[in-house]
Amino acid sequence: MPQTIALTGATGFIGSALAKHLAASGHTVQALVRPASIHKRPDVPDIRWIQGDLGNLESLQCLVRGADAVVHCAGTVRGATRAQFDRINVDGVAQLVRAVEEQQPVPRLLLLSSVAARQPHLSHYAASKQRGETVLAEKAIHTSWTIFRPCAVYGPGERELLPLFRWMARGIAFLPGAGQARFSMLHVQDLTEAVARWLESENTSGRTYELHDGHPDGYSQQDIARTVAKLRSARVVLIKIPAIFLKTLATFNLVFALTARYAPMLTPGKVRELSHVNWICDNRSLNADTGWTPRISLEQGLEQTLWPKGAPSRQVPAARGKRKGV
Ligand SMILES: NC(=O)c1ccc[n+]([C@@H]2O[C@H](COP(=O)([O-])OP(=O)(O)OC[C@H]3O[C@@H](n4cnc5c(N)ncnc54)[C@H](OP(=O)(O)O)[C@@H]3O)[C@@H](O)[C@H]2O)c1
Repeated sequence: MPQTIALTGATGFIGSALAKHLAASGHTVQALVRPASIHKRPDVPDIRWIQGDLGNLESLQCLVRGADAVVHCAGTVRGATRAQFDRINVDGVAQLVRAVEEQQPVPRLLLLSSVAARQPHLSHYAASKQRGETVLAEKAIHTSWTIFRPCAVYGPGERELLPLFRWMARGIAFLPGAGQARFSMLHVQDLTEAVARWLESENTSGRTYELHDGHPDGYSQQDIARTVAKLRSARVVLIKIPAIFLKTLATFNLVFALTARYAPMLTPGKVRELSHVNWICDNRSLNADTGWTPRISLEQGLEQTLWPKGAPSRQVPAARGKRKGV
């Protein structure tokens, strides 16, 4: 049934895919946009845009007014200090919950957290996502809330993993750290479908769900390189980046970011996340409660991401030489 959905983060990777999917499904979407990001609004007709910020209660009150459900997708994955992450990923949740709880009737609320919240000791990001969940559970007294903990999400419009995938498509895979990690992946289209299922379901209140693409044991970095090698019909050369090199680079980057005042992606915390051995998720609860099942395999998803329809042929000469490849 069509609903009115209040959406945050609609100028970002996941949020813009959600805005498109929800609007195309016939829902009325009202979305928050920061004044400086108006140019980043996705090209989706009929969205009602509300200018504001997670730090501005008035704009959040305006955003959630009349909504049946709120999907909180805004967040930061970059930052140098705990305060930078907490301001958005923790205080932002608290502020949104305050606006939601003032509504009558109170809309349902879905928080896009992260599987990183399982290991809050690893990084400021992981800790902030866990604290965001705690704030939601503590402050949303009258709200029917649900938490999604996606793993690594990829697909069109994604910016952090895409450069690594593109290098693989050219025949070179950079493997950070010890290469022991196993992690789950999820195509953004499957994530948007999971949100659509949540909108239709009635038995998800107070629950936290992990999501992945249906590959139960996750992947190693080598598995990803192997999949791209298959897609390009040519081998991919593996280049290991030693953990010590990454840690040193991340420390320099952090110091530079603190001096130059920008929000860094590569920090010692991010390296600890990358080196963590088990980021495998479990879909079973979400499947049981909503009927959602992911549809896009890694191979299909990478093909769609790296070689969108209309792109030039993927045929490239096979890499030569004695280096280890897949
Ligand atoms: N991408 C993944 O692999 C992944 C995996 C697990 C969980 N998640 C979670 O999913 C959410 C979305 O991730 P993403 O990859 O789509 O991130 P993204 O592309 O960086 O988008 C972040 C969104 O949040 C908005 N935002 C940031 N600070 C804000 C503030 N103070 N007020 C209002 N809006 C603000 C951004 O607005 P501007 O455009 O104005 O900057 C943007 O729309 C995050 O909470 C992230 O932790 C992501």
